[in-house]
Amino acid sequence: MEFSTILFEKKDSYVVITLNRPDKLNALNKQMFDDLDAAIRSIELDESVKALILTGTGEKAFAAGADIKELNESGERSGKLFSEYGSYVMKRLAQLRIPTIAAINGFALGGGCELALSCQMRFASENAKLGQPEVNLGIIPGYGATQRLTHLVGKAKAMELILSAKMINAVEAEKIGMVNAVYPQAELLAKTEEFIQLILSKGSLAVAGAIECIYAADELSELEGLHFESKMFGRLCGTQDFKEGTAAFLEKRQANFTGK
Ligand code: COA
Repeated sequence: MEFSTILFEKKDSYVVITLNRPDKLNALNKQMFDDLDAAIRSIELDESVKALILTGTGEKAFAAGADIKELNESGERSGKLFSEYGSYVMKRLAQLRIPTIAAINGFALGGGCELALSCQMRFASENAKLGQPEVNLGIIPGYGATQRLTHLVGKAKAMELILSAKMINAVEAEKIGMVNAVYPQAELLAKTEEFIQLILSKGSLAVAGAIECIYAADELSELEGLHFESKMFGRLCGTQDFKEGTAAFLEKRQANFTGK
């Protein structure tokens, strides 16, 4: 598919979206949100897409935030709409039922960090720098960081990062659970793709069921979540993939999952 601010590449059964405004450090402008929205829609409609990787062009930035030039023109009403639109697109990303990984290849600041937080997992290059610098501009994060970052790293760390606007490096981000793994820049995408391939080698119904249950942890009480998990477990025990997976184990061979 052709877009003006992102590259969209379908590779067998997964998609790599690359944020592509390198001269502006891949800052997220209205056009990029329109493009991301359309790209997410096409992924939702295409059953053959089983996973998504999001990354940025170049070696310097994943995304250096919302486009400050566009933001600068906002007043109270338009500022709210600015936040709501980006928030809506990131919510759609966060609701995808396929595995999603942000491969953070440099700066992930402000909206760029929030975009990465809207993915299920984050792998970072050694030169990556993450942060929510909005208070430097007299605003707060507007695309979900006050909620998603808080859920991910806890209140105290979210307060530390959002109130101070400080940037942290990839190793610090890994230490607080903000990124899953750190790789040399040159290996980042290959390592991310390798991990996606590992997930894709599993039973797809089981992977989708696990995603559904882990999402439910944000929405349900623990007791409700446990009921939800048991129901999903039972449903998966009725699949051909379950019969195949257990038979393969007992017969000491590789399972051949069909997603049925
Ligand atoms: N919005 C719009 N343009 C941005 C941008 C943003 N968030 N971040 C970087 N750019 C643009 C710069 O204006 C510059 O454009 P120009 O060459 O036309 O002047 C270009 O990208 C390169 O950025 P520059 O600042 O020169 O690079 P640097 O290496 O000196 O600094 C950063 C890198 C990331 C530290 C710095 O760009 C920065 O602080 N960006 C803003 C981060 C931010 O506050 N994000 C939250 C937004 S809500």
